[in-house]
Amino acid sequence: MSSFPLPVTLADADLAQRLTARIARHWPAALAAFRTLYAGHADLALWEQKLAARLLGSAAARPPDLQALDVARQETPDWFQQPDMVGYCTYIDRFGGTLAGTKEKLDELSRLGVRYFHPLPLLKPRKGDSDGGFAVADFRDVDPKLGSLDDLRDLASALRARQISLCLDIVCNHTAAEHPWALAALAGDPHFRQFYHVLEDKALVDAYESHLGQVFPQTAPGNFTHVPEMGGYVWTTFYPFQWDLNYANPAVFIEMLDVLLFLANQGAEVFRLDSAPFLWKRIGTDCRGLPETHLVVRAWRALLAIACPAVALKAEAIVGLAEVLPFLGTPEKPECHLAYNNTAMTALWAGLATGDTGPLRRCLTDALARPAGAGWLTYVRCHDDIIWAALKGVIPDDKLAWISAFYAGQAAGPFQPDGRAFQGEPGAVRSTNGMAASLAGLRDGGADDASALARLRLAYGVTFALDGIPAIYMGDERALTNDADYARVPDQALDGRWLHRPQMDWQRAEGPIHAALSQFARLRQGRKAMHGGNPARPLELPNPALLAFERVDQGGDRLICLGNFSGQTLAADLSAWAGAGGWVDLLSGEAVSVEGVILDPWGLRWLVPSVA
Ligand code: GLC
Repeated sequence: MSSFPLPVTLADADLAQRLTARIARHWPAALAAFRTLYAGHADLALWEQKLAARLLGSAAARPPDLQALDVARQETPDWFQQPDMVGYCTYIDRFGGTLAGTKEKLDELSRLGVRYFHPLPLLKPRKGDSDGGFAVADFRDVDPKLGSLDDLRDLASALRARQISLCLDIVCNHTAAEHPWALAALAGDPHFRQFYHVLEDKALVDAYESHLGQVFPQTAPGNFTHVPEMGGYVWTTFYPFQWDLNYANPAVFIEMLDVLLFLANQGAEVFRLDSAPFLWKRIGTDCRGLPETHLVVRAWRALLAIACPAVALKAEAIVGLAEVLPFLGTPEKPECHLAYNNTAMTALWAGLATGDTGPLRRCLTDALARPAGAGWLTYVRCHDDIIWAALKGVIPDDKLAWISAFYAGQAAGPFQPDGRAFQGEPGAVRSTNGMAASLAGLRDGGADDASALARLRLAYGVTFALDGIPAIYMGDERALTNDADYARVPDQALDGRWLHRPQMDWQRAEGPIHAALSQFARLRQGRKAMHGGNPARPLELPNPALLAFERVDQGGDRLICLGNFSGQTLAADLSAWAGAGGWVDLLSGEAVSVEGVILDPWGLRWLVPSVA
């Protein structure tokens, strides 16, 4: 029996009709996943009714403009793959001060060609250190320092009016220890105790720990926190003040779905599923990307397709590509619409360090396995550290350790990055902090600045040419360097990631990177080869310092991106792929000879066949 357990009676007959059609299409998949997850619960039928009731309630409350967007998006399911999609990611307080202040900065985003805006967590956090807002105390309210829920809705509509989609973080793996659910659990409420993983037996903690990795081994070692008021150990994968939710409890699944539905109705068009791999726990495993985690995501996808089909899901799974790809699901069993292409990002930095683009080409080849209807979020930097371990198996460990030392300024190489090592023991594959400009070697006024800017442009130019939504990280457009003062702020001092979370410097001249990013965005617009459904296929050139990949549209539109990952002038022979006619570099406007395309040190070309 997979029929919907409640009658779809709504005052709006058109909506009821649309909803009935979507239920017929997506409820079976949602229910199948839900039943597999919660088969053991005696009162399963009751949970199914609760689920259906929340879904109907939210669909009925959906504002008319968002319903109109739902209808439009159903006709263009590839909306997030359009060539003109360009993203921007920032902290609200560091960019516009408040939500209202950010609204005043939207011209800046439009000038960069932005169509997708991801403000980092803005919901009400716990007081004090909140892991940059990733310790949420209320999923239905905004951080009062940034504004109100009204301001959020207002910003969402202002963005929508400019065809910029708002992406919000759903911190789905945990709540703050100060969230009302956690406070109720602390006060002894048995219902809310079940929302978390509370282990009374230390031996059991140890049994779990023996298979788990650690996210912050130096500042928050282990995965459990002893909480005397709870009479045991609470699962805390990240910081002790972030309590992992227990998805084996159907109430948690439904409450977090309700959070998604609520925020969708405020105007969010994309959800970044924070720490997606960690949702489900099973003893004897590393509790990352378990099959049940994928069922949770699959069920959410189907349920959102019923209540708010305009909305897309994006997986934040910063692991190896083999573990990321399942988050995109299959055409028959879709999960997220988007996932971060973190291996391409990481391999890009590795390529700059080593002059070998082989690992990046391998990552791009492996990424071809994604389903055509799902896409990547491509990026150069984000608010987190660069986790080299995601390239395990692609690059040998000793090489990764060298790359991590190089970016931390502890090993000589082709340029001098200004990054810092993060977590892990010295000598190991530690991750890296630092703004993109600093990692590229920029030291405002330094001797090597022109070449650092060329590397930054190269990194972004490759990223914009890959398939996916290229996301600019705050300040990179003005080549902002590290915020060396972060350690003076007590709540930030212990977390080195604040090095690359500076205040936007609106006084700083826009400069060549701003011009380059605007150009990349402009050149993507309307270019069919740049549709997300057309993957980047690497071309093999004899010199490993040369990266070449091609995007081809079935209608014939083509683009070859060529990058020089070395400090020498190089020439590339593309005649094997170029065919008979002439080619032109879109970036410089120059006609090129395909037998010997000249690339400056750290140079970049976007080549297309010249129109006859
Ligand atoms: C994600 C965020 C990161 C945060 C962690 C815990 O990985 O990107 O910044 O620390 O989740 O919420």
